[in-house]
Amino acid sequence: MKIAILSRNANLYSTRRLKEAGEAMGHEVDIIDTLHCYMDITSSRPTVRYHGKELPMYDAIIPRIGASVTFYGTAVARQFEMMGTFNVNESVAISRSRDKLRSLQLLSRRGIGLPRTGFASKPDNIKDLIKNVGGAPVVIKLLEGTQGIGVVLADTAKAAEAIIEAFMGLKANILVQEFIKEAGGADIRCLVVGGKVVAAMKRQGAEGEFRSNLHRGGSAEVIKLTKQERETAVNAAKIMGLNVCGVDLLRSQNGPMVMEVNSSPGLEGIENATGKDVAGMVIEFIEKNAKLHATKTRGKG
Ligand SMILES: Nc1ncnc2c1ncn2[C@@H]1O[C@H](COP(=O)(O)OP(=O)(O)O)[C@@H](O)[C@H]1O
Ligand SMILES: [Mg+2]
Repeated sequence: MKIAILSRNANLYSTRRLKEAGEAMGHEVDIIDTLHCYMDITSSRPTVRYHGKELPMYDAIIPRIGASVTFYGTAVARQFEMMGTFNVNESVAISRSRDKLRSLQLLSRRGIGLPRTGFASKPDNIKDLIKNVGGAPVVIKLLEGTQGIGVVLADTAKAAEAIIEAFMGLKANILVQEFIKEAGGADIRCLVVGGKVVAAMKRQGAEGEFRSNLHRGGSAEVIKLTKQERETAVNAAKIMGLNVCGVDLLRSQNGPMVMEVNSSPGLEGIENATGKDVAGMVIEFIEKNAKLHATKTRGKG
């Protein structure tokens, strides 16, 4: 098969591993820099152009679209879908998962366990906003944050009010969330491929740190999931419509709670922690599912 990886950087671990795995399994794999793609979106025969040439017809694309290029990246992916190319993660599903509020609302609607979460743009009563998620301590998150930056723990209602006011002063969209203390500064990353959890790791924050992000000095180890955790991760992926994703869970007194669903999960941490060939499993998923026009939305929506 001919497979294209949409990625801005061919040297990234995940991009390299997917190319290697695809080639090892006998496929032709190109890495296409998403931002360098351009297209005539009004043509009756949709195509994608790259470095002055029309790209060949690929059987499948693997979108690895960073948060900063979601808007253009999903448009490029949609163009491939219109051509009939199989897209591992549909453009609509990527857009859905990138919007934290939309994701939480969709998951909540379907009964997935979530930390109590409030969001606000210009709350006229900050005290009530905090009380409404159970009172301090609360976690306050910048909607656009990643890698743990913009995630703050406020121990008291006073601190929470001050932080919320500061963020509001910067016109930032925020989310106020119940602090799941019993998670003990750890979370669980479940890697879902084709409706199955194929690898899972526990990430533990550095000493004195409630954020478990590896970028914040956290460490990873392999973990055995409970049946309920496995089902929660699989359901969350299904609700988001993602075939390949990372589902992050917190272990709470009330069972697993989903924090976020990531449509371009990094493979380095999880492959190293578990020794599993996740990239190979993504290629296997493509082998089983990539048929012309098999992407459900085909560029619609
Ligand atoms: N409600 C919460 N209760 C306890 N810990 C949390 C909560 N929300 C986030 N954390 C911790 O902070 C980390 C970063 O939060 P997250 O929402 O994943 O932001 P980011 O998108 O920046 O990674 C999580 O991995 C988790 O360890
Ligand atoms: Mg996170």
